[in-house]
Amino acid sequence: MAETLFIPQTTDRQAIYDSLVPQLAALVAGETDMVANLANIAAALKEAFGFFWVGFYLNKENQLVLGPFQGPVACTRIAFSKGVCGAAYTRGETIVVPDVEEFPGHIACSSASKSEIVVPVFDQAGQVQMVLDVDSDQLNDFTETDASGLEQIARLITGLY
Ligand code: SME
Repeated sequence: MAETLFIPQTTDRQAIYDSLVPQLAALVAGETDMVANLANIAAALKEAFGFFWVGFYLNKENQLVLGPFQGPVACTRIAFSKGVCGAAYTRGETIVVPDVEEFPGHIACSSASKSEIVVPVFDQAGQVQMVLDVDSDQLNDFTETDASGLEQIARLITGLY
């Protein structure tokens, strides 16, 4: 497909996810390289929603290591026992943090980040292979709509690797 996205001009996030998910499925279907696909997914989420930071931390060398992302430079390595990313990895479940200052152990890569959602991405054997981390500069910016939309995107990645 052409490397352009159609993004509905609306603030209705559900409508944006509904439009984006099939476009991302088509985009990644034509490419086998994981870094290339994660890079495009991060770019698409940034473009579609204007999130402050969106990116992946990959399970490597017994820790989470920064992968493709969009936004300001970020922490490169996170222990499985640390931060929201480590918690989502360890629990194998999506974590929504309405106020990062209220989350014990939150890792502040940027003081501008106010709320956060982290979604685990499983491999086909059911192990967490990476997490998708999205940060907002607004408090309380993520809802169940984001959780289910980002989990759909996580499942696209699971289907590939
Ligand atoms: N806040 C995350 C660390 C990654 S940055 O937000 C990009 C955490 O607590 O795991």
